[in-house]
Amino acid sequence: MKNAKLQLEKNFIRNVIDNRLYSSFIEHLGRAVYSGIYEPGHETADARGFREDVMELVRGLNVELVRYPGGNFLSGYRWTDGIGPKENRPRRLDLAWRTTEPNTFGIDEFADWSAKAGVKVMAAVNMGTGTPEEAGAMLEYCNHPRGTYWSDVRRKNGHEEPHAIKIWCVGNEMDGPWQICHRTADEYGRAAAEAAKVMKWTDPSIELVACGSSNMRMPTFGSWEAAVLDHTWDHIDYLSLHIYFGNAENDTPNFLGRSLEMDNFIRSVAGICDYIKAKRHSKKQVFLSFDEWNVWYHSHGQDKKIKKWTMAPPIIEDIYTMEDALVVGCMLITLLKNADRVKIGCLAQLVNVIAPIMTESGGNAWRQTIFYPFMHASAFGRGIVLACPVKCEKYDSREYSDVPYLETVSVLNEEKNELTVFAVNRNLTENMDIEADIFCTGSVGLIEHITMNNQDLKAVNSAVGEKVKPSNITTAKVEAAGQSAVLNARLPPASWNVIRLKIQ
Ligand code: AHR
Repeated sequence: MKNAKLQLEKNFIRNVIDNRLYSSFIEHLGRAVYSGIYEPGHETADARGFREDVMELVRGLNVELVRYPGGNFLSGYRWTDGIGPKENRPRRLDLAWRTTEPNTFGIDEFADWSAKAGVKVMAAVNMGTGTPEEAGAMLEYCNHPRGTYWSDVRRKNGHEEPHAIKIWCVGNEMDGPWQICHRTADEYGRAAAEAAKVMKWTDPSIELVACGSSNMRMPTFGSWEAAVLDHTWDHIDYLSLHIYFGNAENDTPNFLGRSLEMDNFIRSVAGICDYIKAKRHSKKQVFLSFDEWNVWYHSHGQDKKIKKWTMAPPIIEDIYTMEDALVVGCMLITLLKNADRVKIGCLAQLVNVIAPIMTESGGNAWRQTIFYPFMHASAFGRGIVLACPVKCEKYDSREYSDVPYLETVSVLNEEKNELTVFAVNRNLTENMDIEADIFCTGSVGLIEHITMNNQDLKAVNSAVGEKVKPSNITTAKVEAAGQSAVLNARLPPASWNVIRLKIQ
């Protein structure tokens, strides 16, 4: 048995959460678009080919933004291929993923899909083969009301009203040698600054995200951020971070500690932003957009067998386990703890490709294990992150020191008078008893304790059933104690927990 002690005080605010922390990503990659969100002829497809069964699951995640159209795909994408009559759209080689892109889905279809799904678009412009002129043209097409070449092309294509896309990524992972037309930090920084100027002159109401590092282990990490920020500081609003974790070594205690690396990554990039801010004597704050994060490793072997130039092949279709859901839970908690700096977080991706939602082409849609922690955080993790001192035992793993057995964060939703404790018990064999002192003048009552665990850490869900799904347990209790209340709860070994409290 392990124990942990927490202290929560309603007025001790750590961070205010930006709702865009609960965002996701759809790339023209594998079956994310084709037979993912879009499958004309599917029995649930609407007149535009949007799968209603998938949309229903997307709505269940309450996603804010969906980033589109890439990803590595972006760096070779001609956005004009995806507009106008479908019969005239070209089929192209996608050099990023060595597939064939039919272009029967483009920015207009994505804007329509997003409106129907109740999400906002986070668009991206090509900084690989693309030019500032093309970036400006795409923005004019999407956001300018009327009376110019590109806005009138949009109207002619059936979209009288602008798509009004407010947030744009200036390229994708331009630090990566795998990127089509990869650039050095100075090359990218200069090009991004010029593209950003064109974009903000075209529509000053937009916000822009510059490319940071593809992960913290890149050889250019640190110097890349500093150089890019130096070039782009006056023109951009966010710097991106990406990270994917795996457990190829099958070392679960180490895998569960990986969110400490994510935390270190965020703090390091925030520090670099502060350094450039200080160096430039600037009052401006550049925030962070963690616009790709997830577990990704299960499909690496399978992907090598995929035939080149196939259209929408099943690539990067990781099937997630119980332990992956715990890592995703720890990553969500890490984003919340850093919500003062991280304003956007995109779970990469949304459907079929390293995704919480899977589909069978012509068949059913279903929820992966990682669907649930995201769903819970998105539903109950809105409002304010409270400062929460935690005392618990720690362990050392192969790559990380001082990994707390308890990963936790608490969120106060003042509108709903709810306090939610999110917690992962990283201990694989023992329960963890937590005791939380809750300091507030009114009453505190338990709404529910949701938990998700499975003795088989490799258990997965599939189209025929869910071996990993949340359920309610009844071990938690809240008792009044003078000016405070005390919450006691037992967290099962290797579990994701959501303890919801009503506070008056
Ligand atoms: O999300 C899958 C890929 O991961 C994206 O295309 C790329 O940006 C990253 O390397």
